[in-house]
Amino acid sequence: MAGVIQIRTEIPGPKSRALLTRRAAAVPRGVPAVTPIAVAHAEGAVVTDADGNRLIDFGGGIGVVNTGHRHPAVVAAVREQLDRFAHLCFPVSTYEPYVELAERLNRLTPGQHEKRTFLVNSGAEAVENAVKVARAFTGRPAVVCFEHGFHGRTNLALALTSKVVPYKKGFGPFAPEVYRIPFPYCYRCEKADGRTDGRAEGCCMADTACLERLFAVTVDPGSVAAIVLELELGEGGFVPAPVEYVRALAAFAKAHGILLVADEIQTGFGRTGAMFACEHYALVPDVITTAKSLAGGLPLAAVTGRADVMEAAEPGGLGGTYGGNPLACAAALAVLDAMERERIPERARRAGERIAARFRSWADRYPCIGDVRGLGAMVGMELVADRASRAPDKALTARLLGTALARGLILLSAGTYGNVVRVLAPLTIEDAVLDEGLEVMDAALAQAVADSRQSS
Ligand SMILES: Cc1ncc(COP(=O)(O)O)c(C=O)c1O
Repeated sequence: MAGVIQIRTEIPGPKSRALLTRRAAAVPRGVPAVTPIAVAHAEGAVVTDADGNRLIDFGGGIGVVNTGHRHPAVVAAVREQLDRFAHLCFPVSTYEPYVELAERLNRLTPGQHEKRTFLVNSGAEAVENAVKVARAFTGRPAVVCFEHGFHGRTNLALALTSKVVPYKKGFGPFAPEVYRIPFPYCYRCEKADGRTDGRAEGCCMADTACLERLFAVTVDPGSVAAIVLELELGEGGFVPAPVEYVRALAAFAKAHGILLVADEIQTGFGRTGAMFACEHYALVPDVITTAKSLAGGLPLAAVTGRADVMEAAEPGGLGGTYGGNPLACAAALAVLDAMERERIPERARRAGERIAARFRSWADRYPCIGDVRGLGAMVGMELVADRASRAPDKALTARLLGTALARGLILLSAGTYGNVVRVLAPLTIEDAVLDEGLEVMDAALAQAVADSRQSS
């Protein structure tokens, strides 16, 4: 059977190159161009570029289209909403799609307790607002975050973000009262000694005494409003936190009256094989932030949390002009329906097993694959110079991505050291298309390894 990939020109082709040239003259280089292609159309897991090349999308707009590009139900819902009204400003006039989405997120997110949700425009904004409500509720100033964490690019979100280049360099001063502690990154933990699969038993940081010692030299727990945690690092390299660590952290937070904020912006909406990554940990966070795949491609983010916490801010303290735009709310309601109807988390589990099995089979062939890990379909592999040193191989990673793109596969990297290859394909991807993408990845990996041997 013919595959979906069609290569008509070199990639990037002339039309893509022309737009990229205009882009370079009009848009600052600080906004990265991760791939050099100009897009004409996207449907499901397939992207058609301006030159008519058809590519498989393993990037999904960085985890935004778990339900696929232009899911028909999402397109129909947005069209229908557009015929009624496109904007009113929720703080000025109440409309049902916003209220219904809040109700649904309150029901859907972990925990049976009473909750409230409000909507904003981006992940960074959601994280900033989670910190605002946590501070308002606790009356405490400090926030604790993690090494390798990513929470966005606005000033407070950037303070919480870990990686310096390119995110933070030159952009300080950052918001104060932000304290960073190590993330349980077992593969790069000296004590774990390169043990793979971050979910293995025996995390050396997973006890409250260890956390007490850590806080003793970091910040008074009594002044901490919130701990902001990604259960599986996204931009930080697809590293799932060990279950026992999360359990210890939650107990520590509870003992000190600290709110736990789960940043599920990348892990949410089926990606990890559950609606939310929290479910893998039986974790009920005080506040949860969501964005990305919430609205199937429209800009929308949410802060959902315990009613008592969320009600701490004064009227007017939360919200904004565009937060909870009606078109985005209509899209999100259609996304949530599709998630349920099409059993997206279950599909993610199956896709994840397929992806991880392929990655592991490659690890048997290539010693440059140091680690394969992830929850559900949030699978990544870490490329290293050799398994003994675990030295990150960023150049090989870049070579693999470039080679894959030339063969018709959009692939993204991640990780503080730029050496993790991650899959964020739409979860609606057909098995045959997923397999075709993995075949391309296999061939691209072989070529990238051969080319890097030749050049060294
Ligand atoms: C875990 C996490 N939090 C926050 C953000 C920031 O989201 P946005 O880019 O929509 O501001 C991201 C984006 O990648 C993310 O992965």
